[in-house]
Amino acid sequence: MKILTVFGTRPEAIKLAPVVLALKDDPSLENIVCVTAQHRQMLDQVLEIFALKPDYDLDLMEPNQSLTRLTAGALEGVGRVIDEARPDWVIVQGDTTTAFATALAAFYRKTKVAHVEAGLRSGDIFAPWPEETNRQLVGRLTTMHFPPTEGAAENLRREAVPDAVIDVTGNTVIDALQWVAARLDRDSALSAKAMAGLPRLDQARRLILVTGHRRENFDGGLERICRALRQLAERGDVEIVYPVHLNPNVQATARSILADHPAIHLIAPLDYIPFVAVMRQAHMIVTDSGGIQEEAPSLGKPVLVTRDTTERPEAVHAGTTKLVGTRTDVLLAEASVLLDDPAAYARMAQAKNPFGDGRASQRIVKRLKNWPN
Ligand code: UD1
Ligand code: UDP
Repeated sequence: MKILTVFGTRPEAIKLAPVVLALKDDPSLENIVCVTAQHRQMLDQVLEIFALKPDYDLDLMEPNQSLTRLTAGALEGVGRVIDEARPDWVIVQGDTTTAFATALAAFYRKTKVAHVEAGLRSGDIFAPWPEETNRQLVGRLTTMHFPPTEGAAENLRREAVPDAVIDVTGNTVIDALQWVAARLDRDSALSAKAMAGLPRLDQARRLILVTGHRRENFDGGLERICRALRQLAERGDVEIVYPVHLNPNVQATARSILADHPAIHLIAPLDYIPFVAVMRQAHMIVTDSGGIQEEAPSLGKPVLVTRDTTERPEAVHAGTTKLVGTRTDVLLAEASVLLDDPAAYARMAQAKNPFGDGRASQRIVKRLKNWPN
């Protein structure tokens, strides 16, 4: 059986690396990897950590790329790879342009698609945009669906996807996170190296880790978030570390509002290993990232989610994440509660694992191998 795995962005790479490693472990499977390089530097960071060497690299990223051009390039490029490699299965992950264009390219060749992290739904096609629609469309083109949770599986059943092609696996991000956490735990030199690249932080102050990159927040949302962060920094008892996504729209806003404050550290995107190390050190996390909403609960870190909706309600129900939207006053108030009310903090800072047990990748490989059973 020949399996082609395609990804293009940082989160897809993190979430598919454990799947590719599990495929590699099975000598009966032919394992081909294609990267679209929808991201370049942020993708390469992950390839290096997991020692992945793609068989095909479409090198598509352009500065401030448009969705149309990227979609067209990925559709054509991945199509050519499928024509040449003739896989039995194409694996895609999540809801990016790469995932959607790849699923469509496979469908045009009647090649079976396996969708990892299937079934997430916010119910609003513009939030997150364009991801909600991407994943719905991928779902229509998919042969085998791997939802991370029972809730995501239920979303698929509601869309009349037959039970026989749904397998709840847990999220592969937990496989990746555990892999990195175990390395950090057993290798103190790696742990020290991971922290060494960070700015010098006042240990007496609590660390707030921030990320933000959602397109629907470009229209004023990110600006309001940054204003709240600036006011938070004025408290004097926190250090804010913000590895800024390389999207130029994010860079411009974050730098214009946050650049010159001594308690705010705007840094380049961190490699995954240092990022996990910083998450573990953080007092709390402020983010609109999907993956971080999944990782933080298992690390026991409270997350304020700077979005109005989430397709990851499991973490909200577990009590470890809270949707706060993008209003400056609301974010400031919610962050202040976590900083000033130890009981409120303790209620959120509990390690929970709603997204998986770290064995999702093995389940995915086993199911594809035994297809159609
Ligand atoms: C993409 C995904 C989003 C995912 C996010 C993860 C789509 C439509 N969006 O959003 O779902 O949550 O990745 O981070 O698929 N850039 C670089 N270097 C990099 C990466 C990006 O310079 O390594 C810059 C480029 O100018 C690029 C721009 O960021 O054109 C936007 O990249 P793109 O992948 O289109 O969108 P993201 O906002 O990163
Ligand atoms: N991440 C990272 N370095 C950073 C910021 C995030 O390695 O500087 C990791 C994070 O741990 C998570 C993933 O990148 O696994 C999330 O990616 P992103 O927020 O870009 O995308 P999303 O999950 O929102 O699609």
